[in-house]
This record gives sequence, C-alpha cells and structure tokens, in this order.
Amino acid sequence: MDSSIQLNNVSFTYPNGMEALKSINLSLPKGKKIALIGGNGAGKSTLMLLLNGILKPTSGFLNYEGTNYTYNKKGLKLLRSKIGLLFPESDNQLIAPTVYEEISFGLLNLYKDVGLVRTKTEAIISEFFLHEFANKPPYQLSSGQKKRVCLAAVLAMEPEVLVCDEPVSNLDPKYAQLIFNYLDKLNEKGKTILVSTHDVNRAYTWADYVVVMHNGEILNTGKPESVFKNKESLKKANLNQPFIVDFLNEFGSNFQDSAIIMSKWKKYYNW
Ligand SMILES: Nc1ncnc2c1ncn2[C@@H]1O[C@H](COP(=O)(O)OP(=O)(O)O)[C@@H](O)[C@H]1O
Ligand SMILES: [Mg+2]
Repeated sequence: MDSSIQLNNVSFTYPNGMEALKSINLSLPKGKKIALIGGNGAGKSTLMLLLNGILKPTSGFLNYEGTNYTYNKKGLKLLRSKIGLLFPESDNQLIAPTVYEEISFGLLNLYKDVGLVRTKTEAIISEFFLHEFANKPPYQLSSGQKKRVCLAAVLAMEPEVLVCDEPVSNLDPKYAQLIFNYLDKLNEKGKTILVSTHDVNRAYTWADYVVVMHNGEILNTGKPESVFKNKESLKKANLNQPFIVDFLNEFGSNFQDSAIIMSKWKKYYNW
C-alpha cells in the first residue's frame, strides 16, 4: 500500500507543557478515505495541525510522498498546496470580507496571474453553487453554508490530500451528507481524505482505513472491519462499537451476512 503522509516518532508538546502527541508512527495510505477516531482530547486536532505544517513536531519528523517536511517559507507553501486543512470551526477559517474573496485569497498566494485566479475562483463558485452568496460576508451564512465555503476555499488550491477536522459535527444530516458527497467525489478522483470524528457509525460505513487515537497515542489502525471488531481498543479510546457491529455480534451473524445487512443499512442512511 502506497503511503501519502508518514509520521516518524512524532511528538508534540504545547507551550504549557501538555504532551498532546507521544512518539507517533503512522502511515496514511494514499488515495484512501481515512477516519481518525478518538474521544475528546485524544490528539486528533493536534495531529491534523501537524499534517498541514501549522504546528511543527517537538521531536520526530513527517514526510509527504517520501520528502521530509521543511518549515521554511518555500517548504510550507509547497506543503499547503498539497495538503489542505478544513478547520473544525468555520469561523476560524473564514477571514475575508466576502465569499468570493475568501476563495480567491489562497489562490492569490499560490498564483501570480490574477486572470488565472479569477478563472479558478469562478469555477469553484460554480462547482459549489455559491453564486447567490459570492458577494456576501461569510458571517451572514448558515453553519452548513459556511462549511461549504470553507471546503470550496480549500479545494480551490487543488490539494492532493484533504484533512478535515470534524467536518460535519454541527451540521444537520442532510447537510452532513452533502459534505460527505463532496469528499467522496474527490476521493474518486484519487485524493487522499482524512476525516476526524467520534461518530463510529459514520466512520465504519464511510472509511477504507481507520486510525484510533487516545491520549496522544495510536491505539489501532486498519480496515474498519478489523478495527471495529476490537472492543478493547475502542473502549480504551472512549468509543463504542458501531451499532451495526454490536447488533450483528449480539445475533451471532457471520461477516458474510453482515455485508448484506450493512449494504441495506447504508442505503437506509443514504451514506
Ligand atoms: N492550544 C493548546 N494549548 C495547550 N493544550 C492544548 C491546546 N490544544 C489542545 N491542547 C491539549 O492537547 C490535547 C489534545 O487535544 P486535541 O488535539 O484538541 O484533541 P482532540 O482533537 O482529539 O479532541 C488535549 O489534552 C488538549 O487539552
Ligand atoms: Mg479536535
């Protein structure tokens, strides 16, 4: 399995002495849909800030497709053009006076050609159906609309890896589905998508690969079927088993049956 980003003995301690990541070794498979799961304070957000170079490890190193991260201006610019980060709070991400400027902001850092920036901005506005609020200030939008603008702004940069920190935590089910549909569309184009969540049901149905975190450490990694079978590591991470796994265990079904029930379950939830 090709890896996209690798972490080698990565530790991170906040200035107040909080050791948020403890010697993490992790390889994120390329082109996959990856769920990063763990309870509050597990270190998911910290890890995501390191992936995009906003935070620098206290020790250890990261590499992207075989090249170690460098934290000078040039290295960070390259890194951020490859690895996009969707913040958990849209209000922390949205800084421009209008939606249009929000989307063109990152592009202007990336390209000198103003005409090209305009073309790319307009293409993204169309793709994300943002015409009606292009000239509005982002604070006037609903949570779902804000999240859509944030996603559009990140995707305008055409990253290879998209890191999304709890992208649907405060969205209604329909809007959450819309966001996941965008993520799936991107993944179909070969992009690697990493999503943090404590929603084990969604992680189980959506992800190709799951990483379980607790207390700054990785407890388990692997395919959803194997990760979610391991009740011990889930319990340690303050997580439950997905409802459907628990249900099937209870009724003693084997995994062949579970595939059929799963497909019905997915259809029911439209995931
Ligand atoms: N800016 C910060 N300063 C100090 N400690 C922090 C900061 N941000 C997070 N932490 C601490 O680091 C640990 C990991 O937090 P975080 O990465 O936000 O976890 P998660 O996203 O899984 O909830 C927690 O104990 C949290 O309190
Ligand atoms: Mg978090």
